[in-house]
Amino acid sequence: MLAAETRRLGGPDAQGRTMPKVTYVEYNGNEHIVEVPLGTSVMRGAVDNNVPGIDADCGGECACATCHVYLGPEWLAKIGTPAEGSQEASMLSFAAVAQPNSRLSCQITMTPDLDGLVVSMPEGQH
Ligand code: FES
Repeated sequence: MLAAETRRLGGPDAQGRTMPKVTYVEYNGNEHIVEVPLGTSVMRGAVDNNVPGIDADCGGECACATCHVYLGPEWLAKIGTPAEGSQEASMLSFAAVAQPNSRLSCQITMTPDLDGLVVSMPEGQH
């Protein structure tokens, strides 16, 4: 078993408000805890803090699936699955490692109730 590494990044915003935290878990178990501004995508929170495993090649246009993450059951219940017939659902249907709890992190926007969100990256996305 690999030792987990935890990095804490980010900090209060310009107004001194604390921001919701997201834990990104790499396939190898390394964890990165990042404060992600409200209204920002989960993908952007990773990219802006150099979290490995989320490349976001299309820049958040829902056209690359390199921001693919898995959600735990409690977060999937809160955030939901991609809308049927949506571009996200279509992109995930082509992803070899997609699971019922897959989402594209560029399509998840941070809200206060997502504080503590944990997302995991699939194998091969590093
Ligand atoms: Fe390309 Fe999310 S960043 S699909």
